[in-house]
Amino acid sequence: MSHARAREPLVGRLVVVGLGLIGGSFAKGLRERGLCREVVGFDLDSQSRQLAVELGVVDRCAETLEEACREADVIQLAVPILAMERLLEALAAFDLGDAVLTDVGSAKGNVVRCAKHLCERMQARFVPGHPIAGSEQSGVTAAKGSLFRRHKVILTPLAHTDPSALALIDSLWRALDADVEHMEVEHHDEVLAATSHLPHLLAFGLVDSLARRHENLEIFRYAAGGFRDFTRIAGSDPVMWHDIFLANREAVLRTLDTFRGDLDALRAAVDQGDGHQLLGVFTRARAAREHFSKILARRAYVDVMHSNDLIFLANPGGKLSGELRVPGDKSISHRSIMLGSLADGVTEVDGFLEGEDALATIQAFRDMGVVIEGPNQGRVTVHGVGLHGLQPPPGPLYLGNSGTSMRLLSGLLAAQPFDTTLTGDASLSKRPMNRVAKPLREMGAVIETAAEGRPPLVIRGGQRLSGMHYDMPMASAQVKSCLLLAGLYAAGETSITEPAPTRDHTERMLQGFGYPVAVEGRTARVQSGHRLSATQIEVPADISSAAFFLVAASIAEGSELLLRHVGINPTRTGVIDILRLMGADIALENPREVGGEPVADLRVRSAPLKGIDIPEALVPLAIDEFPVLFVAAACAEGRTVLRGAEELRVKESDRIQVMADGLQTLGVSAIPTPDGIVIEGGAIGGGEVWAHGDHRIAMSFSVASLRAQSSIRIHDCANVATSFPNFLALARQAGMRVAEEGNS
Ligand code: S3P
Repeated sequence: MSHARAREPLVGRLVVVGLGLIGGSFAKGLRERGLCREVVGFDLDSQSRQLAVELGVVDRCAETLEEACREADVIQLAVPILAMERLLEALAAFDLGDAVLTDVGSAKGNVVRCAKHLCERMQARFVPGHPIAGSEQSGVTAAKGSLFRRHKVILTPLAHTDPSALALIDSLWRALDADVEHMEVEHHDEVLAATSHLPHLLAFGLVDSLARRHENLEIFRYAAGGFRDFTRIAGSDPVMWHDIFLANREAVLRTLDTFRGDLDALRAAVDQGDGHQLLGVFTRARAAREHFSKILARRAYVDVMHSNDLIFLANPGGKLSGELRVPGDKSISHRSIMLGSLADGVTEVDGFLEGEDALATIQAFRDMGVVIEGPNQGRVTVHGVGLHGLQPPPGPLYLGNSGTSMRLLSGLLAAQPFDTTLTGDASLSKRPMNRVAKPLREMGAVIETAAEGRPPLVIRGGQRLSGMHYDMPMASAQVKSCLLLAGLYAAGETSITEPAPTRDHTERMLQGFGYPVAVEGRTARVQSGHRLSATQIEVPADISSAAFFLVAASIAEGSELLLRHVGINPTRTGVIDILRLMGADIALENPREVGGEPVADLRVRSAPLKGIDIPEALVPLAIDEFPVLFVAAACAEGRTVLRGAEELRVKESDRIQVMADGLQTLGVSAIPTPDGIVIEGGAIGGGEVWAHGDHRIAMSFSVASLRAQSSIRIHDCANVATSFPNFLALARQAGMRVAEEGNS
């Protein structure tokens, strides 16, 4: 037996009543793993009993139910749901001692009601369960010991369920490699009615409806992939499904009625030629389907950080050559969706960053009723709804790791007629939001935060905002943009003065959408009462992503690399200025302007770097590039000192501390200060460092490997996908030796 593993038995005698696919697979799996001293089967059908023994599903079969259950430790009831009542009645008449009972029914309310036949003591030892596994095959011949591997099993214990009985059943399913979850009975029945029962009803119903038409042969002759895929489950066991619908009647009716309403709306859209409505439903469905598939494959951004530690292994050495185009600018991508959604008309975006942060913004606007097509190879089509066209979202807006989404959205949501809740992942949930909540409240917004101004944010709709002047205490483009967006709705004028210049993409893009913005020195002003008109946007490559390669090619001897179509907005080019002050050889070629943003190709050649005192004025202009600039400093001759950069402590991680820790591990002298760091250039060793879920830290240590003496293992790298999903591929193409561990 391929699965045979010698283990201490978890139970003495297991009895499985009902030797079909599910009961048979449970028996077989536990028997193969040696987890029961004896596995006894019972089935009303004598042929199934015989086959179960012949196929090694059970050790033996009993002739009667009573004989089967004698001295059982665990009894699994794997009979059709409607047979459960009679079976439980029969069991109630026996002395089952301390046996634990469990079942596998697809609806739980009905089974729990039937269990009332049992005496109180037995009710406490009954653990209702539902393995979400199966196939169109049925019967004991289809039983497979691995059927439940990586499948969900839902247990629905009741208040009086004995915890030790629950723990035992839980451990048996886990031993079969199932993912066990516990849930309330009613919740289970609602969820399953929607996700399993309704689709089966539709599949059976559609096939029957088509088959009954007189031209059915003609129809089925042309039924290709779509029909086959949609109706696969109509091949399931009719008796079992008839049982399920009778057993889960109420929950099925509720979900069916909701769906009927939605189907009527689709019918009306087809009838009225309402393409916008159809496109809305289809694009939302497609995005949701992709998201669910990721959840099912455990790749969704929601759980990546918690479920697995993605490790990058960066091997020492290498030099960079060739040409590459890094993905689209993150800041501009976010804003293209936000302003495109609030515009009148259809906005086409090219070069959009298909990273998780920007996708979170798309999802938020889809949740608020905006039809957004794509992204498809960087192209996104936003069907704007106008400044007053957003709809209340169905639930909290989940923004993943994206601080930009949360801060900018809070400005425009503060002025909507509906309430919203903004949530994020573990890192975003720690980031300060008072910097936006406080000035928004001064404008009349009603916003609640968790302790110390952290997310989630609950924003109360229906407030009248008034314009105001705000002197920003910190240089933050997110705060400035948040207030400008609120200003589109606030009575009168909203003006913001920043202590130092920060990225001005919001101001530029508002103007690109035809919305007047007055910029004088460090003050930007907007007035409400104007409109945004849809436009075309070309997103340049992100200089913050290009920065990794600017440093990489500078520090790896013999490198020459061309980075194409990089955005060189003067509020973003601090990284080039700082690297040049350190001695880097970076040339701007073919400078041009694309859709209101300056762009150039950057040619970088390796050069000896020297340590510098980084001018404080450059800090806001290079705010996202410091992690990789610290790597440049470690490779430079002499000391580099950074001051006035306390903002780095509240990014996706505390970038001063996390980089100092990692660099010290690699043998570099890196001393953190409250508002910066002091780095002495020198040799870089190898070792194990942690990115703390911060994309830019992960990529910076990958770059460090070019000058390392041995490998660098970088933990917690999954969030690289938030801003630079194809980083590893581009890095390797250019000549770096970094890969996902175990995947080189
Ligand atoms: C951003 C502004 C900056 C930057 C962030 C993107 C933006 O944040 O770090 O990655 O798109 O406005 P702060 O405003 O907090 O400095």
